[in-house]
Amino acid sequence: MLLDVPFVPSDEAVIEAMLNLGEVGPSDLLYDLGSGDGRILITAARDRNTRGIGVEIDPLRISDAMEDAAHFRVEYLLDFIEEDLFTVDIKDATVMTLYLLESINIQLRPRLLNELRPGSRIISHAFDMGDWKADKQLELGGVNIYKWVVPAQVAGIWEWDSVDDQRYRIELQQKYQEVTGSAWLADQKVTLKNATLCGDTLELSIQGKKASSLKHFTLTFDKGELQTIFEDS
Ligand SMILES: C[S@@+](CC[C@H](N)C(=O)[O-])C[C@H]1O[C@@H](n2cnc3c(N)ncnc32)[C@H](O)[C@@H]1O
Repeated sequence: MLLDVPFVPSDEAVIEAMLNLGEVGPSDLLYDLGSGDGRILITAARDRNTRGIGVEIDPLRISDAMEDAAHFRVEYLLDFIEEDLFTVDIKDATVMTLYLLESINIQLRPRLLNELRPGSRIISHAFDMGDWKADKQLELGGVNIYKWVVPAQVAGIWEWDSVDDQRYRIELQQKYQEVTGSAWLADQKVTLKNATLCGDTLELSIQGKKASSLKHFTLTFDKGELQTIFEDS
């Protein structure tokens, strides 16, 4: 058995801050990749009634985690599986905690982006994710904690008619959660402003040629397709 990272447990204050940053609650399914003695999952189960899956390659750590989960009477909420974090199925996680290394986070990054549902949160103790900038970051006693929200795939060309029957078209480019692009109103190039993507929801404004023609739209996406469009009045 080859460990990609040694066992170094997160301390209590960091765990609390990670769970708060991830807004972890009873409707979540929390995965801890490299779960060690299970303390993140046990804390979330005990204090927040959160279901959890621990993925750990070292069977001795798994036995410790199961023993502690039983001690705190939360074993019915938790599963600890002996598997490699690089190959385990992660698609059901709504929140994921990581205390690994930046190089491992970067290796995991394509799977996190493609396999987790948009809107899932990733919380990392100490380590960043390369050029995927965190949505939030906090510092606790010299330790950084990072949060990312998995963005939907929104790049492409999208068209719709507004309530007043005007044809809108946008062409979007995307780098992680950062979205840029261009907009057309009735085939005339106009200004696309303030495109902000969070999970499956993209908010943007389109400014037509007249000052009075500013419109705000909220678009939602699923599996790379535009699902709904709301026009704010
Ligand atoms: C730094 S510890 C973090 C433990 C726990 N997540 C915490 O924050 O308290 C990293 C854990 O990853 C486990 N690990 C290392 N390589 C692994 C791999 N390829 N697959 C699954 N677990 C691995 C180690 O055994 C260790 O328990």
